[in-house]
Amino acid sequence: MLSKRLEAIASLITTDSIIDVGCDHGYLDIYLTKKGIKCLATDISNNALNAALTNFKKYNLDIPTICTDGLNNIDIKDTDTIVIAGMGTDTIIKILNKNITNDLVILTHNHLEKLRRYVVSIGYYIDQEVFVIDNNKPYLVIKFKYGKCSYSAYDYIIGPTIKDNKYFNYLLNKYAKILNGIPSKYKNRIDYYNSLIKEIEMRKESVK
Ligand SMILES: C[S@@+](CC[C@H](N)C(=O)[O-])C[C@H]1O[C@@H](n2cnc3c(N)ncnc32)[C@H](O)[C@@H]1O
Repeated sequence: MLSKRLEAIASLITTDSIIDVGCDHGYLDIYLTKKGIKCLATDISNNALNAALTNFKKYNLDIPTICTDGLNNIDIKDTDTIVIAGMGTDTIIKILNKNITNDLVILTHNHLEKLRRYVVSIGYYIDQEVFVIDNNKPYLVIKFKYGKCSYSAYDYIIGPTIKDNKYFNYLLNKYAKILNGIPSKYKNRIDYYNSLIKEIEMRKESVK
């Protein structure tokens, strides 16, 4: 069975083919191939690819693999969705440093605001965001499409498209904890988190 995290990634794919950058075990590729989506499974690590190949064999699936750093040496078709999941934002930014306009489905480990700002700066907009809790860990998967849209500073921090109370409650909890730990002399920081919490509460209110 596919994890909730990988299911959320799969739910955002609307093209007939994907390039799975950093496929590791290849579970996403197995799931999508069974659904008729063509996958190219890539990873920088030969060990990871060997594990993926063993899994593909188990399911009798002939999924092509390439051992490479990011999108280097990959023949990218316009219609391929590029999936990059389970890496940090800095690695993802290095991988995206190419002239591409493909749909992107991204799940970063960290620095969501930085990721949103970078991907928008290279010509994309945020099409959809899906929040899941998997094994007690929160994940936000973002689908970017090529095209223009402008965002507020809060949109980059919170996410412009998501209207999910589970997500808002998670953020409110997270920022309340941060706020509690800030000594009272740091007034600017306290004001910042209070304004962020107010914005999230407003967005949560608009979902009802
Ligand atoms: C934590 S695993 C995530 C696997 C899978 N994408 C998922 O989300 O379940 C990260 C994988 O990315 C690979 N990786 C890290 N940097 C990479 C890069 N620059 N190019 C391709 N793969 C990379 C690692 O070798 C590892 O297999």
